[in-house]
Amino acid sequence: MSLQGTLTINTKDRGAAMGDLFGIFFEDLNHAADGGLYAELVQNRSFEFDPIDHPDYHALTAWEKVERGGGECEVRVQSELPLNNRNNNYAVIDIRAAGDGVGLMNQGFNTGIPVREGDTYFFSMYARRNSSFDVPVIITLEGLEGSIYSEANIVVASDQWTKYEARLTASATDYSGRLVLTTKGSGFLYLEMVSLFPARTFRNRLNGLREDIATLLAELRPKFMRFPGGCLIHDGSLNADDRDSMYRWKNTLGDVAERPARRNNWRYNQTLGLGYYEYFLFCEDIGAKPIPVVPGGSDPHHKRNVPLNELQPWIDEALDLIEFANGDASTPWGAIRAKLGHPEPFGLAYIGVGNEEVGEGFFERYAYFHRAIKAKHPAIKIINNSGPFASGEEYERGWRSARENGSDFVDEHYYQSPEWLLANHRRYDSYKADDPKVFLGEYASLGNTYYNALAEAAYMTGLERNAHVVGLACYAPLLCNVDYVNWKPDMIWFNNHEVFGTANYYVQKLFMHHQGDYALQVQAEGFEQPVQSESKPIAGMLAVGTEGGTVEYSQIKLINHVTGEIKELTDEKILVTDTEEDRANGHARRIAELEAIDCEHYTLSMTARRKAWGRGFMIHFGKVDDRNELLWRIGGWHNNDSIISSQINGTSCVLTHCLFDVEDDVGYHLLLEVCGRKIRAYINGVLVADTEDLIPVIEPLYYSSSIEEATGDIILKVVNVQDAQIRTGIVLEGQGEKETVMIEISKLSGYSLEDENSFEQPERIVPANQTLHLQGSAFEYEIPRHSLTVMRVKRSLNDTDVKVTE
Ligand code: AHR
Repeated sequence: MSLQGTLTINTKDRGAAMGDLFGIFFEDLNHAADGGLYAELVQNRSFEFDPIDHPDYHALTAWEKVERGGGECEVRVQSELPLNNRNNNYAVIDIRAAGDGVGLMNQGFNTGIPVREGDTYFFSMYARRNSSFDVPVIITLEGLEGSIYSEANIVVASDQWTKYEARLTASATDYSGRLVLTTKGSGFLYLEMVSLFPARTFRNRLNGLREDIATLLAELRPKFMRFPGGCLIHDGSLNADDRDSMYRWKNTLGDVAERPARRNNWRYNQTLGLGYYEYFLFCEDIGAKPIPVVPGGSDPHHKRNVPLNELQPWIDEALDLIEFANGDASTPWGAIRAKLGHPEPFGLAYIGVGNEEVGEGFFERYAYFHRAIKAKHPAIKIINNSGPFASGEEYERGWRSARENGSDFVDEHYYQSPEWLLANHRRYDSYKADDPKVFLGEYASLGNTYYNALAEAAYMTGLERNAHVVGLACYAPLLCNVDYVNWKPDMIWFNNHEVFGTANYYVQKLFMHHQGDYALQVQAEGFEQPVQSESKPIAGMLAVGTEGGTVEYSQIKLINHVTGEIKELTDEKILVTDTEEDRANGHARRIAELEAIDCEHYTLSMTARRKAWGRGFMIHFGKVDDRNELLWRIGGWHNNDSIISSQINGTSCVLTHCLFDVEDDVGYHLLLEVCGRKIRAYINGVLVADTEDLIPVIEPLYYSSSIEEATGDIILKVVNVQDAQIRTGIVLEGQGEKETVMIEISKLSGYSLEDENSFEQPERIVPANQTLHLQGSAFEYEIPRHSLTVMRVKRSLNDTDVKVTE
């Protein structure tokens, strides 16, 4: 095959420093912490589950009463004489008849408590009794059918809360095990903080992390870890002592028995057992810089803002966090860290204030945080944010605030289709070097197929190429327990005993392993022109609808600017309403079709009125079918937005967004103008959207290059999203003709676009490695169809090594 183009790398002129570009983002959603990375095997260990966490929860969730061989007992949860005032509930076994034992059994997470033959588990609990008789307790690891895999005996010998511990070694492997506590004693037995950890955790730490999941994260070799959220940090009440408070880091320190349980906004319970100290330790263990995110005193979901005259404690909390991480042991918070076992500072370099906030409330408060942090810790880099979407008014507001305050970074978030990533691959080419840097703190292409991973890889070359404006980037979300899914896709999937990385994981891993320290310029020559799919105007069905509630549309008019025709689409009012069934199933969409249109330039206008509470208005356009359309949604989730989104093959991505609240029984004049791929929308004459639904332009190749300081290795990443291999010349400009190089190649290729990793085939998609030995500064290489190729050119080899081994 003849050469189809050449990539020339300027190996001598170093470009922007790549810094800490690629990292990870950990948020406790999808049971990523409890029931996930946090290795605790008991679910609801301190009987604190509550309907505030999830409507189905109660204090005995995941526990079952045990009555064996004629035994009888009553089990209830009380809080009169708690272990401490942050951990109120405990279980009471009211023993009526001992029989062969009465007590409690814990179901663990997923199918149960996973036990492995030969492995040891650390059991602990707090207990007390009420009578003067000691209460013997048998602790067993059991199978569902009652087989006993391990047993330990404890005697509860005090009427004061006392901690009891035991070690259990399993005689068999069973991933649906149960932890059973039974007694043949009498009276009352009180139980609290019933815990079981595998002895083997990541780095064998107590209160540690699941080894398999943590190892997969460590193997990424991320430069940083953003934590603990996400919406988790700001979705909550303003009082740190409330059960549903925002994420307040001070609640997460110290003895786990004294950490309060909290509602996790992803509709479950968080024990906070994986707390800030553990996060910092984990970052240190895996060599990732910690990037904590603190709430900025504003909850955009519930529209709560801390009054400005009460903001100081929130600011102090951020300052204390910095001191906790970096202060020496003579400072109050440094001393606390030292007491927890870490006298050396954690070396905090970044802090995020807020996550995806919208509205003036947050940005007004951000300025106070920023000033106070910079005044006390000028070297700490502060991350502001630009809301949940890639563009629009709130996005602009975030950037404005960052410029005005001198933020070091702006956290951008977007979850978009692969096509959007390809179409916007040059997004950062036009960002300015003297602006705050971009922290792409959450992004993904909404799928775990090989195609998604490739689109992400192509996009990531754009991040690398623009390392002068993009400083940090991390895929999201990171982890998902397959039985507790809040959000898809995710980078790593697990159940209670298995874990696998997706194709997206392997792309991230390749970029992290081969990030390099300085960008190098790459010149592409000779390739065919980028492939532009035919840029058709946005044509298709026009429709109006709702997503809950009742909406009335009237005076619907369509202007065809090409023909000049003006058409009244209906004489009557159109009422779109949901049904009881829709409501029961959580707001199905209802639509009324209007007219199919196929022209370059048209305007749709109407009056819309919400008649009964619901989510608001939906204007569908360019509708080909239910999976391919454009949508203008006004109101929506939390009745807070006007959003234009484009849906391709069922994957929706937001093109632009601004804040908008719909009021009941108010008539709104909506006007939508479509010209080619450009879209403008107005509400009551005010422009609320001005955007373009770009058609992807497929580049012959996506590429970036960097150099690694310590080794002098030159790294080239090349992504080919097309269905044909491309014979590519690679020229290392600045390299001696006689020099011998070894090229280590890691490659993802040979998969079909729909392929995915799974529990059954966890390594269906993994990089393959190859080594070439070459002499000189130029060579040719077939870049396979649908592939990511990472080449690491190692220089100055001994001449005797010369052999071409492709
Ligand atoms: O990553 C999942 C969620 O997406 C995050 O909590 C939030 O920041 C974003 O909306």
